[in-house]
Amino acid sequence: MSGPGIETIDRAEAAKRLPEFPALLEMALTAQSRARAPYSKFHVGAAVLAGSGRSYPGANVESASYGATICAERAAVVGAVAAGETSIAVCVVVTPTPEPSSPCGICRQLLMEFGPEMMVYAASSEGDGVMAARLGDLLPMAFWAADLEDAAK
Ligand code: THU
Repeated sequence: MSGPGIETIDRAEAAKRLPEFPALLEMALTAQSRARAPYSKFHVGAAVLAGSGRSYPGANVESASYGATICAERAAVVGAVAAGETSIAVCVVVTPTPEPSSPCGICRQLLMEFGPEMMVYAASSEGDGVMAARLGDLLPMAFWAADLEDAAK
């Protein structure tokens, strides 16, 4: 996967760039093993690194009413915010795909609440590849709070 500001690296290179990467990956892999995905069987784990330096895991939780499903990345954000975090610097996500897969659009939009400089590392539980990208490069033209403020009064 590539594009402007989007790179494919390996786990060792990710650890060089971000010393917390191995611990975040471990946390995401553990969360992936706990995912509740009886319908898709697609188990996803995530870990976010918050401004305090603490990390929070997330896993996808599916519902029989499919639309009620929450993705791993958003679950991790909810955990961080509920713990009192106000900023998130990094999101690591792990999918069971041979190559890393990019966070879905809804997750990118929610992550964007914490700013376009967040770094996203998408890893695979099946391989060594890691996609590293600045969130703003993964989601150009996000809908912003400013768009709400611009609404006709
Ligand atoms: N899923 C995630 O957890 N994160 C993503 O970024 C993509 C999709 C989950 C949602 C659903 O439970 C399953 O993967 C299949 O779409």
